[in-house]
Amino acid sequence: MIPPHEAHVLVRGHILHVVQTQTHTHAEDILDGGLLLNKSGGIIKRGSFHELLSQFPSLDVRDHSGSLLLPSFIDSHIHFPQLDMIGSCAEELLLWLENYTFPREAAFRGRNAFVEAAARTFVDELVKNGTTFAAVYSSSCGDATDVLFEEFDRRGIRGIIGKVSMDRHCPPAIEVGVKKDKSWTEGLIKKWHRKNDRLHYALTPRFAPSCTNELMEMIASVYREDASLYLQTHYAENQNEIKWVTDLFPEAKSYLDVYDSRGLLGPRTILGHSIHTNAMDEALLQDHGVIISHCPTSNLFLGSGLFAARRYLSQGQKVTLGTDVGAGTSFSQWQTMNEAYKVAQLRQERIAPSELFALATTAAAKHLGFDDLGLLDEGYSADYQVIDPASRPVLKRHFDIAKNAEERLAALIHFADDRSLKALYVKGQSVYQSTLHP
Ligand code: GUN
Ligand code: ZN
Repeated sequence: MIPPHEAHVLVRGHILHVVQTQTHTHAEDILDGGLLLNKSGGIIKRGSFHELLSQFPSLDVRDHSGSLLLPSFIDSHIHFPQLDMIGSCAEELLLWLENYTFPREAAFRGRNAFVEAAARTFVDELVKNGTTFAAVYSSSCGDATDVLFEEFDRRGIRGIIGKVSMDRHCPPAIEVGVKKDKSWTEGLIKKWHRKNDRLHYALTPRFAPSCTNELMEMIASVYREDASLYLQTHYAENQNEIKWVTDLFPEAKSYLDVYDSRGLLGPRTILGHSIHTNAMDEALLQDHGVIISHCPTSNLFLGSGLFAARRYLSQGQKVTLGTDVGAGTSFSQWQTMNEAYKVAQLRQERIAPSELFALATTAAAKHLGFDDLGLLDEGYSADYQVIDPASRPVLKRHFDIAKNAEERLAALIHFADDRSLKALYVKGQSVYQSTLHP
């Protein structure tokens, strides 16, 4: 029995989320559901709206009837200073980095009006696409990263954020030597890491070719000292990159061994891409419990390769979904799921809508170590998005024809976008309200 004083607000809507067991993933919904929240934004009960209302008749009701309540999205890989360069055409990753990315990232330096406005737009794009938790690569500048942390904090969303570390093979404007890098990194950790339960720091060596041994050793020593830190980097995205790593690290057994031998792999390491691997390295990923970020829109845009999601999932690997903006072409996790589906199709493999949705919600939460995120159920934080299926006539038509929760999710994956999102909440608090749905 819930004591009446604990119940704070009753949220009404069509609840839809995805549940995973050891062997199964399935979509579940309650057509006229209710979520009972306490003052701290925790879900204390879930059920039929009318049953909950009859138990708590005098409670404030947040009425979203006719709209969907879904867990908000987790994006496990995105770049802040690539906000303005989506769609920059290049033959492949390394040319894209050299010709577009590095010059663009040079603009994201210092604490100034440009960086502050960019941070606002970046968070605007996240929230209008239903994302309340993102693992973000900032630029290599500590001050710009500080601005980004401030914006996440001010807006009330969740982040695992890191200043990119890179001390070679890049223009001088974005190269940061080990001493300065260490001082910026330690300062940011001290100021922001676990400042509250929404903000976390990720050590962010860009990828092996951008880092000298000395830089990787410095990062490894900070990583070793604090088991609550994350570490994010890129791995095995493209064949030219892999060949370059082999040339730069002739002593390494593999690309992954460059990271492993320096102590950079662990259960809080998030590796972007992981496309071109082999059985030995996949076993190593699993042994370390490494988190993989699958970034399909980026992989298709740069022609990097087709991630073997089905194989990774059947191995029990910790797969999550990332937009990888700006090689990725969309801030939307719906669009990212849509393209993950097509990547699997090109491999003659299938991924169900509920499996795709899990990658950006419940599976991502679990793999990143957040047991209270990703589901709309008792004991979870009320981090949810409100979607109006009538926002697009074509979505509504598909939605109405759908026979079950799985088919309703399929309709959302193909037709939901930023026009569909009405409102977004973190811990029961509003972080976005669409002007299209007053
Ligand atoms: N590898 C190293 N840096 C990057 C980056 O910024 N984006 C992508 N997609 N891959 C990288
Ligand atoms: Zn990336």
